[in-house]
Amino acid sequence: MTPIEIKNKTNMTQRDGFTSTFGVLVATLGSAVGLGNIWKFPYLTGTNGGAGFLLVYLLATLLLGLPVMIGETMLGRATRANAVSIFEKLRPAQPFWKIIGYTGMLAAMLILGFYTEVAGWVFAYIFKALSGSLLHGDASAAQAQFKATIANPLSALAWQWAVLLLTGGIIMLGVSKGIEAVAKRLMPVLFLLLVVLCIRSLTLSGAGAGLKFLFAPDFSKVSAGVILTAVGLAFFKLSIGMGTMLTYGSYFRDDQNIPVTAGRVMLADLSISLLAGIAIFPAVFTFHFAPTDGPALVFLTIPAVFASMPGGQIFMVLFFVLTALASIGAILSLLEVPVAALTERLHWSRRKATALTVLLIAILGAPAALSNGAAAHWTIFGLTFFDFYDFVSSNLLLPVGGLLLCVFVGWIIGRDWVQSQLSNRGLLANQAVVTGVFMLLRYVSPVLIVIVLLRGLKVF
Ligand code: PHE
Repeated sequence: MTPIEIKNKTNMTQRDGFTSTFGVLVATLGSAVGLGNIWKFPYLTGTNGGAGFLLVYLLATLLLGLPVMIGETMLGRATRANAVSIFEKLRPAQPFWKIIGYTGMLAAMLILGFYTEVAGWVFAYIFKALSGSLLHGDASAAQAQFKATIANPLSALAWQWAVLLLTGGIIMLGVSKGIEAVAKRLMPVLFLLLVVLCIRSLTLSGAGAGLKFLFAPDFSKVSAGVILTAVGLAFFKLSIGMGTMLTYGSYFRDDQNIPVTAGRVMLADLSISLLAGIAIFPAVFTFHFAPTDGPALVFLTIPAVFASMPGGQIFMVLFFVLTALASIGAILSLLEVPVAALTERLHWSRRKATALTVLLIAILGAPAALSNGAAAHWTIFGLTFFDFYDFVSSNLLLPVGGLLLCVFVGWIIGRDWVQSQLSNRGLLANQAVVTGVFMLLRYVSPVLIVIVLLRGLKVF
């Protein structure tokens, strides 16, 4: 056993953590991959004009997402603490920085408020797929069916609670036996199924139009608001700006090569989103849906693709099962932020912290769950609760959290420390990478975030 492995072992006995390099990779990927890829990415690409949006999103991922993800996991691993205590440990005399952890917890709760609802729709669609009631190729019938599903108040709440109970149960099992174990089994199958779906979609008659929409940019549609949405998506996708990667970083192994791990997670996550786009947009154009159909998009198009293919029902069931499982990996990582903070800061048991968090989300999430029916007329700033939670978290809290993180890493803790952390105290020969990441975090990312935020919110 190398000295690093021995050190890892001792760490593991004091505090739960991921058990292998591969475990770190899949668990982190399990957080990144979720409804963001399969539900949000396609529908935002559709409503924001297609390839132009995709290009801005790619740039945001490279220039903002990747460096912030590296910065977050680095802080977590260096301190082995939760999203709030990390800053207390590193700068005890500057309590201000704990705000990153607190806004992160708030963002996590808001995201969970609507995310668990969408996951609930996915669970409901598993049963619809099983019953065969989704096997029709008619666009307006599919739309009516989706609307009826999400408008029913009782089932909306019941599915959300089912999702919360299930994920709360896994979280109680802990980091290695819960989170890591689930992620390991899931990712490869999801990837394979998406590939099958893409092949099928590419042989549809609307494939050309779909691919053109996804890959031929039309910059006339790229406004400041569209750019802010793309940046918000980049943060949401990589689970950054809100404490998840800070917390997961604290479970990383000491010998983990952080920049390489983050790069791999980013690439795999991006591939899954692109596969989802390639699966969905040809179907949109073939079956006469509109790219602007919004949050309903995946629930309309995927059944249409499968309905037209031999053995489609089996694949349809499998698809919704896997999407549900992918959403679980992401929900676990969202829950882990408050749960880790509550257990470590208030010395609560994991059980108690989880139960309280789940209860709070059930309360906070109820108006979001009812936003498509009973509570459709309850609005804040003209948005339903569902849209409000989504907008405030993705387009506001995550970019602000990311900005504060850039300033903290780039200006407060400084280059030598970052150099030592990201090179695993000189064991890795990755000086050029570290310099690049540091320069981005210090100069480029914060300036870009400020401009995008101010322009997107129409401050100037
Ligand atoms: N990244 C997840 C997804 O794309 C969502 C998420 C956001 C998870 C923030 C954790 C934290 O579905």
